[in-house]
Amino acid sequence: MTIRLRLPAALLLSGLVLAGCSDVLEDFPDTSVATMRMSSDSLDLVIGNQVDLGAFPLDKTGALRPGRIISWSSSDLAVATVDDSGRVAGVSGGTVTVTATTGGVSGQARVRVGNAPLIQLSRTAVPVATQAGQTSPPPELVTITNSGGLSLTGLTLGAITYTGGTSGWLVASLNATSAPATLTITPVTAGIFTAGNYAASIPVSASVAANSPDTITVSLAVAPGPPTARVMTIAGGNNQTAASGSTVAVAPSVQVADTFGNVVAGLPVTFQVLTGGGGVTGAVANTNAAGVATVGSWTVQASGAVPASGRFPNQLIATAAAATGVTFDAEAYFSYTTHVHGMWVAYSCTGCHGSAGGLSLAGTAAATYSGELFNVVTACAFGGGVLEVAGGGGASAEANSLLMLKLDHASSLATSPCTLGMPTAAPLPAAVRDTVRAWIRAGAPLN
Ligand code: HEC
Repeated sequence: MTIRLRLPAALLLSGLVLAGCSDVLEDFPDTSVATMRMSSDSLDLVIGNQVDLGAFPLDKTGALRPGRIISWSSSDLAVATVDDSGRVAGVSGGTVTVTATTGGVSGQARVRVGNAPLIQLSRTAVPVATQAGQTSPPPELVTITNSGGLSLTGLTLGAITYTGGTSGWLVASLNATSAPATLTITPVTAGIFTAGNYAASIPVSASVAANSPDTITVSLAVAPGPPTARVMTIAGGNNQTAASGSTVAVAPSVQVADTFGNVVAGLPVTFQVLTGGGGVTGAVANTNAAGVATVGSWTVQASGAVPASGRFPNQLIATAAAATGVTFDAEAYFSYTTHVHGMWVAYSCTGCHGSAGGLSLAGTAAATYSGELFNVVTACAFGGGVLEVAGGGGASAEANSLLMLKLDHASSLATSPCTLGMPTAAPLPAAVRDTVRAWIRAGAPLN
């Protein structure tokens, strides 16, 4: 540099001198700008936003030659402006060339100006359904497109958040980081054994998008396990007692669940009388949200041979598809008020036993029960513990009740002071006598 400055201008301009000095001059670098490198050749800019472009003057060896004054220009100021520092501002939609010039050398950047990209999801709610403990449902696809301007790039998935108590049942993946892209949502639910409703949120983000992050909600409905494994249990109404021909106080109910304990709703349950001869109303009932089905009513019946206890077993069975049926037990009894007392008029006993003095079977149930029958000492000196009606129940009460001996025309009467069977002509039908027998065997209560 110093040598060249010493040369007279005339010599410098002379081709002859230059030729003679060429070897010397080539030892000094040519610092003039040969090219202009831009920080970016092409970029997107949202209307109203700004971006700083850099321009780097390089000499012919590619070395940076800084310290130059660079002038900036935009090919269309209506689309984008640029200031002296290379800061580009988006004005309206379009494409401009921003040029940086120094020493007659220029560099260009293509700037596309437009509205911000928008994340557009083909759906934001993805419902999936499965059964507890069963194979996971197939993957679901969501398409991601750009419904705004410019280009939707830099797509990423955020952390999945779960609600409903169980987490980790989703895998999400993107096939591209720029729109259009496909999000694959793979449920991994085989390990969920508890029926219920679960949800997960998948955030889809892109820093360039005006609506980032957008969110997809996956709702998972886990139904109870498969029907081959239903379990039915008694929910209520077992082991009741009722008068023959009446309904049990608590209508029997069952609960149905799968093998994982998830209750099954909306399942028809059929109730049928198994033994006892009673009947039901509402024989088919659907399980409710708690998995419980309740029969309309169950009327029990006292029929057949009189049990030693005087109480007649009744059974009701509940069945449902793919479940083992369950059985309810109940006992029916003959009541004094409902079944026994009315017989005194119906079978004309009151024709002879209609007034006080001797055995009176007239009057209310309570009056005849207390005043004439239950544990009442008989005028017939029969001997032993025989009373009109003996309490305590069972076979001994039956044997010690003169009422029963009379109705049965018992052979033991022959040796007693009161030999007549009642009615005197012939015994009443066995079923009629069994009503009294069952009541006495059951303890002859005033019921
Ligand atoms: C035709 C009249 C007549 C009718 C009807 C009649 N009884 Fe009698 N009953 C008698 C007479 C008489 C006695 C007393 C004689 C005896 O016990 O052998 C008696 C005795 C009895 C006794 C024993 C009372 C005691 O303490 O000694 C009982 C119990 C009895 N009857 C029940 C009935 C019943 C129940 C009926 C209806 C199914 C009935 N009787 C129908 C006439 C009748």
